[in-house]
Amino acid sequence: MSTFNLFITLLVSFLLSSFVSSYSGNDVQLWCNQTPNPQPCEYFLTNSPTHQYKQINQKSDFLQLSLQLVQERALIAHANTLSLASKCRNPRETVAWTDCVELYEQTILKLNKTLDPNTKSSHVDTQTWLSTALTNLETCKAGFYELGVQDYVLSFMSNNVTQLLSNTLALNKVDYEEPSYKDGFPTWVKPGDRKLLQASSPTSKANVVVSKDGSGKYTTVSAAINAAPVISSGRYVIYVKGGEYNEQNDFTRRSRAPPARLHTVHMNSSEVTPCNRLPGDFEVVTAPVIAYWGVQ
Ligand SMILES: *[C@@H]1O[C@H](CO)[C@@H](O)[C@H](O)[C@H]1NC(C)=O
Ligand SMILES: *[C@@H]1O[C@H](CO)[C@@H](O)[C@H](O)[C@H]1NC(C)=O
Ligand SMILES: *[C@@H]1O[C@H](CO)[C@@H](O)[C@H](O)[C@H]1NC(C)=O
Repeated sequence: MSTFNLFITLLVSFLLSSFVSSYSGNDVQLWCNQTPNPQPCEYFLTNSPTHQYKQINQKSDFLQLSLQLVQERALIAHANTLSLASKCRNPRETVAWTDCVELYEQTILKLNKTLDPNTKSSHVDTQTWLSTALTNLETCKAGFYELGVQDYVLSFMSNNVTQLLSNTLALNKVDYEEPSYKDGFPTWVKPGDRKLLQASSPTSKANVVVSKDGSGKYTTVSAAINAAPVISSGRYVIYVKGGEYNEQNDFTRRSRAPPARLHTVHMNSSEVTPCNRLPGDFEVVTAPVIAYWGVQ
């Protein structure tokens, strides 16, 4: 075996890689099949002139492409929602519609932030922004149901943005890396927060305590979040005691008030099931040991 063989191999792989400058329908199918919603993924990637012929060599390329796709579809969905103003038949429908316009705007902001090359974001940040974006869309839909007007305007708003967004969440999650630790805490936990969690009675430093066993003020994280003040002069700390909190679906409710800025939720337990969908005002970062929820 000689250098010559190696050279040939290198040359062949070089040639191959330069040929893979655009993808065929089959490639798209292969990549999309790794997502929870392959149909809309394939449908839009094969039909959109903007996204055709982009190079996909690795998963990160595909994630980038999927993010661009969902951004494009969300912009279209936002424009479509705006155009439906005159279709609202009554004040309740108008309220639900107005909320949706804003929620689509918020979704686009998160997507733009995720895609902005100047944003220095970790996988966890990206996951947080994408989850918030997804929650916004669910809240939009839930608004029509809550107000009992789901039968008309909502049907004109049908699109595949939710599915495409879920795909990006799934793709990003694969690349999730465990955070690094210092003194038993993930490095992103700020020193002040570390002190709080290490205090001999951290619950006494919290504004409210959530506990499954009823020893706190609330038994669910969502109840504590929904009851948190909109404006707080300092940091508002919700301490969540160890236990299993399976509340993903309760977080679709968004506070209609101006964004609360200073909320933090501390969770003590590796047993706590991390919830990653929180109302728009909250961001979530989960870690195996504790989870820290607050606004960045
Ligand atoms: C959603 O995606 C499906 C393919 O999965 C497509 O047939 C349908 O037209 C899309 N809907 C919209 C509103 O674009
Ligand atoms: C988000 O990005 C798109 C595409 O670059 C741009 O057209 C849009 O104005 C941006 N929206 C906001 C709110 O930044
Ligand atoms: C976390 O919870 C465990 C039991 O669930 C308890 O022993 C421990 O002291 C708690 N840690 C803090 C910092 O509250």
